[in-house]
Amino acid sequence: MQNVFITGASTGIGLALARELARRGHRVALAARRTELLDAEVAALTAAGLTALSVTCDVADAAAVEAAVRRVEALWGPIDLAIANAGLGDPSPIAVMTLADAQHIMQVNFMGMLHLFAAVRPTMLARKSGHFVGVASLAGFRGLPMSGAYSASKAAMQAFLESARVELRDQGIAVTTVNPGFVKTPLTDRNTVSKPFMISAERAAVIVADGLERRKREVNFPEPTATAMRALRLLPNWLFDALVGAGAKQLMGPGKP
Ligand SMILES: NC(=O)c1ccc[n+]([C@@H]2O[C@H](COP(=O)([O-])OP(=O)(O)OC[C@H]3O[C@@H](n4cnc5c(N)ncnc54)[C@H](OP(=O)(O)O)[C@@H]3O)[C@@H](O)[C@H]2O)c1
Repeated sequence: MQNVFITGASTGIGLALARELARRGHRVALAARRTELLDAEVAALTAAGLTALSVTCDVADAAAVEAAVRRVEALWGPIDLAIANAGLGDPSPIAVMTLADAQHIMQVNFMGMLHLFAAVRPTMLARKSGHFVGVASLAGFRGLPMSGAYSASKAAMQAFLESARVELRDQGIAVTTVNPGFVKTPLTDRNTVSKPFMISAERAAVIVADGLERRKREVNFPEPTATAMRALRLLPNWLFDALVGAGAKQLMGPGKP
């Protein structure tokens, strides 16, 4: 049994993963801003005989994340598995992107992950043990149209997690980058862009939990989208621009910027 701390656990992938890890016998601390959702889920998990607790925090606030981690550690002991999953980002053309929106995406997706990392790092280093996970995205493999700030935030996460993975290997700390393609959640429900090969959050949770048990370096899914994005990464810029640019025109539609 491990002590798990997962952010963005009030809905979507984080919620499904929290449930899956609790079902697999771990103690799971569910973190997000909406306390009422977290409390209702913790009550349901507890009623099912599983161990969970809710910790309200905004991942954009380093002190709040630190306090939430310390609270869980005080109750359960050190965090074994920390999962930075909280994230956001709706499709938005770069022509109308505001700096405030871009800043918010980076603050939650990238800095939110670093805040969790900073909070669990001392104990993991002291114990020479632990597993740190970031939920990035296949959208971080290349700069995708309508996703400038989102793709950038996920690419930043991927680069940081890769550095951490290599540096921390000898310290007994595993690092995993999770890169989902389309998963049906409130985030994807909000927009009408086409979502090829979309899977349920429950299926995503099983794939991620299996990958974490194997301490995989990367968990990329669903397979067809992961393969396509790996191929896109290898394309020369002129071909990438031609292929993806055509798709972008369709996404933005006539008359849109
Ligand atoms: N769904 C997909 O197709 C897909 C694909 C690739 C990557 N991802 C990534 O997967 C992760 C989960 O996304 P999802 O699809 O499950 O979206 P979601 O259902 O909208 O869930 C997002 C979660 O993040 C939390 N959150 C947002 N801002 C927060 C903040 N400032 N502080 C703390 N928690 C915050 C939300 O909780 P509160 O609002 O209660 O705080 C919620 O629990 C994200 O990092 C997303 O980028 C998703």
